[in-house]
Amino acid sequence: FLIKDFYHYGTFPDDFQWGVSSSSYQVEGGWDADGKGPSMWDTFTHTPGTVLNGDTGDVACDSYNRFEEDLYMLRALKVKAYRLSLSWPRLFPNGYRASLNMKGVDYYNRLIDGLIAYNITPMVTLYHWDLPQTLQDINGWDNVDMIDIFNDYCDFCFQTFGDRVKFWMTFNEPYAIAWVGYGLGELPPNVKSPGDAPYRVAHNLLKAHAKAYHTYDEKYRKTQQGLVSISVSSEWFEPLDVNIPREVAAADRALQFQLGWFAHPIFKNGDYPDAMKWQVGNKSELQGLAESRLPTFTEEEKAYIHGTADVFCLNSYTTRMARHVIPRLSTQSYEYDQDLTVQDVSDSHATAKKELRAAAWGLRRLLNWIKEEYGNPEIYITENGVSTDTSKTVDDPDRIFFLKTYIDEVRLKGYTAWSLLDSFEWLSGYSVGFGLHHIDFTHPDRPRTPKRSAHLYHQIIRQNARSQAKSVLTSLNPRLITY
Ligand code: NOJ
Repeated sequence: FLIKDFYHYGTFPDDFQWGVSSSSYQVEGGWDADGKGPSMWDTFTHTPGTVLNGDTGDVACDSYNRFEEDLYMLRALKVKAYRLSLSWPRLFPNGYRASLNMKGVDYYNRLIDGLIAYNITPMVTLYHWDLPQTLQDINGWDNVDMIDIFNDYCDFCFQTFGDRVKFWMTFNEPYAIAWVGYGLGELPPNVKSPGDAPYRVAHNLLKAHAKAYHTYDEKYRKTQQGLVSISVSSEWFEPLDVNIPREVAAADRALQFQLGWFAHPIFKNGDYPDAMKWQVGNKSELQGLAESRLPTFTEEEKAYIHGTADVFCLNSYTTRMARHVIPRLSTQSYEYDQDLTVQDVSDSHATAKKELRAAAWGLRRLLNWIKEEYGNPEIYITENGVSTDTSKTVDDPDRIFFLKTYIDEVRLKGYTAWSLLDSFEWLSGYSVGFGLHHIDFTHPDRPRTPKRSAHLYHQIIRQNARSQAKSVLTSLNPRLITY
């Protein structure tokens, strides 16, 4: 069939916020430059055998030294927004304000000023996983003291950069922090405690988020007039069989456990989704525990957490099928608490990361689910994109296909593609890249080259329309129009 057949034609609103995204550890490098302290990712990548090919973020894209080049690419793309994150240990080398590193402040001032000078809106994430190592040494997000420590850091950032930064996100993907970091133990701090640590950590993250939000409200909102949110992540879960009620319920549970874990307290009522309270409570009881492994909020805490996001920020990459199962009771795990398993959508496109298959149709369903569940919030996609093998350089039809099909599914306030550059892709190192720009990581200058997808994205932005994408695609390579 012809690709044009499945496009929806039309334009985006004039104020649609097109952007690209990145994060500090993945692009900056300069891991110990000018007084920066180590983050838990420095510790992790410096431990042999952790990351594919022994890759580290020591130099990465060298954006710490080359942000002018990044600005140049942002201007060429004509994006209206750039989502970046602040490296906490670059600002506070030991995690606390007393250790303030002015060189770090200077760096972000130059970057933010550069964006403003070109009319590009900075969208700033306060925490994109690079925790100061010293704070991991006191148990990181499993320590309730982190709520105040994080608040102090956020307070400083609002105060220092908030005259120019009007779009803040506290956490990037709290789900990954809690589950992948403390349950599966795949990401630092590599704690494998799937039955309880993720729930405790998520509880602290929610409180830390809410506290930072209130700090902004009380001290800065009036003068700075920005907005604060949190980038939550979710895939779409499609029921294995929509005609079987328990399969539909299983898919809904999957969404509640992944997205609702954070979004329900913040956007709905200050508390965890009923499905989570019921499932975890019930399992805990059957496991003979005195109380649920899912912590509870007091009424006061619920009121404090509810409503602490001005817009809805979503990271989403893929679609999966959910199927109802009853797992063994003996293993205590967030995973088994859900009574379901997930599997790939069979007719989706494989991508360079096998767990992230491209199935664009799920995005629209996810957005509709969010709209229904949370009362039609303003939604920004803060991450969406696809990886390709970095040995392939600028010719990336897969990414063109991905962007065209995914962008076709959205009705939103803004869309921020992941990512501006190929960068350090966590456990995969530099083997795969999500960038609209290729980087030669073997070259000391880290030369940046726009991929074909950068041209496509530029056209979409320039014309502010879905329909134009077709002609661009056809002109690039006529072969691409049939699939
Ligand atoms: C989510 C993370 O926020 C980002 O850091 C990562 O590179 C992308 N997903 C792709 O895996």
